Amino acid sequence: MARFIDELKRTHYAGALREQHIGQEVVLFGWVEGRRDHGGCIFIDLRDRDGIAQIMFDPTTNKEAFEAADAARGEWVLGVRGTVRDRGTMRNTRIPSGAVEVVAVESVVFNKSETPPFEIKDDTDTAEEKRLEYRYLDLRRPKLLKSLRTRHQMAQSTRAYMTDHGFLEVETPFLVKYTPGGARNFLVPARQAAGKFYALAESPQLFKQLLMVAGFDRYFQIVRCFRDEDSRLDRQPEFTQLDVEMSFVNQDDIFTIMEGLIFRLWKETLGIDLETLYPEKKFPRLNFEESMRRFGNDKPDMRFGMEHIDLTELVIEHGGGGIPMLEPLAQKYLSGEYRRDLPPQIVKALVVPASANLSRTEADKLEAYVKSMGSKGLARAKVGAGGEWTQSPLAKVATKEFREALNAACGAKEGDLLLLQFGSAAMVHTVMANLRLHLAKKLGVIPESGSGGAWNFLWVVEPPLFEYDEDNKRWAAAHHPFTRPHDASLELLEKDPGKVLCYRYDVVLNGFEIGGGSIRLHDPEVQSRVFAVLGIQQEEARQKFGFLLDALKLGAPPHGGIALGWDRLSMLLTDAESLRDVIAFPKTARATDAMTGAPDRVNPEQLAELKIRSLAADTE
Ligand code: AMO
Repeated sequence: MARFIDELKRTHYAGALREQHIGQEVVLFGWVEGRRDHGGCIFIDLRDRDGIAQIMFDPTTNKEAFEAADAARGEWVLGVRGTVRDRGTMRNTRIPSGAVEVVAVESVVFNKSETPPFEIKDDTDTAEEKRLEYRYLDLRRPKLLKSLRTRHQMAQSTRAYMTDHGFLEVETPFLVKYTPGGARNFLVPARQAAGKFYALAESPQLFKQLLMVAGFDRYFQIVRCFRDEDSRLDRQPEFTQLDVEMSFVNQDDIFTIMEGLIFRLWKETLGIDLETLYPEKKFPRLNFEESMRRFGNDKPDMRFGMEHIDLTELVIEHGGGGIPMLEPLAQKYLSGEYRRDLPPQIVKALVVPASANLSRTEADKLEAYVKSMGSKGLARAKVGAGGEWTQSPLAKVATKEFREALNAACGAKEGDLLLLQFGSAAMVHTVMANLRLHLAKKLGVIPESGSGGAWNFLWVVEPPLFEYDEDNKRWAAAHHPFTRPHDASLELLEKDPGKVLCYRYDVVLNGFEIGGGSIRLHDPEVQSRVFAVLGIQQEEARQKFGFLLDALKLGAPPHGGIALGWDRLSMLLTDAESLRDVIAFPKTARATDAMTGAPDRVNPEQLAELKIRSLAADTE
């Protein structure tokens, strides 16, 4: 029988030792973080998931233990029995256990370690690709461990909160029927039905609605979702949602539940009382339309200003103001050639304040930046004394009236730099929204988040139900076709689809969309009118969503819900730089697993069993 583990059980985590343990005998298990030889004694920093403790090995106490310690190297796995003693004046203030050390009496080497491919420390400069390849070593870093602990706490607090509020945690399938729309799905070949495929669920959306039809009333799940989309800092192909659905509720009821949860999460994971920021325990609301107008997107970071200035009307009024590129645009509007309800051409400005002192080269770099997003350029004008424009080709051509009106609309002062963008609304919004953030980062006007920093929550509400699909010249659902239109918009459904608003909402934190949901369309009559606008025929609808349509006709209660992006929330809560820092085993930017090598080829027999032949395999 082995002495350590079988007889000697761990008494404490190394990182948890404090002054109160002085004089106690302890048994610790952990990894060698560092080893020093001091005047005949060996000192080992032993690391476990709680932190580090210093262990002292004296050759006169136990020669065998001393020799083991002497031989030990980084990341060896040791067991130690010893006595905790006061370090007195030799305290190490940099580690929480630094007031004490353990004088080893007995030890064991459980396992040696080869020299690790990189040093395990928080301020690492090892490339992320390398760290992901050896993720189990990377996860030994205190910072990652701390993030995952916070994530654990989030889950505990959430389960308690949801249970307190009468929600049932129910699991839903991952292998589901492919339904069109939404994100691109991962497909899984069905061996027992050759030629057919499951889709991996992009969210439990339809199932949670069916749970409402079943009468479960309040459902939640911390659930993995799968979407075959390009990874970004805030996007992973498999990610987690806190998924929620409720019956007999309106939008306000859902907001109240979620606000309560977020308040609790901040309190229990960070010790922050959001009530000091939101005394009414409510987050502010912003209309989608206003959000687009002021910030160019539906997830504005409102911790700073630098809002967009919409100059479209002004340009139209001035017939283009003498600026050749703007004149055709104004003429098209004036001649009625542009229909206002279709994606229009717009003109927007951003003002870089004189205090930023942006050099000409820096302004050139901004132009290069917007070009990288597909824009043709970035018109600009520096405001001189008396409102003259300098450093700008526009200066020569703009009419005086136009220049003055534009300056006034922008509130421009001497020394300010005006940046203009015109073109299709979608392009202008994207470019100017990104430019606003880019400039804010560059000028350092965004307050730090994290403890003590700003937590800027926001509900973005009342978006349009439909958006016009320019390519196919038809209306498409802006989210999904089961979103309930505003009652006041119902009469516009056929008349003016572009103006129909709906009960869809997103919750935004510091410029990140951390969640979204909607009140669902439970009324089959309105449902078929929505399908008619979308050009979906009855038969097609049956084929795509037949099971849901049946369910809606078999006693579906009014219902609605929301899903919070769990990884994004963890990322913001822990002030991490990317989703990868809050996921134990994340995918790389190319959606691969650097450690296991997934995705990988499989052998031809496996494919044959699935009746599949890979074109890629044939050609390579
Ligand atoms: P939605 O698609 O808006 O809604 O997703 C909800 C939230 O999930 C997060 N999210 C992601 N996080 C990481 N990586 C991704 N690839 C990713 N995609 C989305 C976002 C987003 O706000 N069924 C609906 C919810 C509902 O209507 O109830 C849904 O899935 O933070």
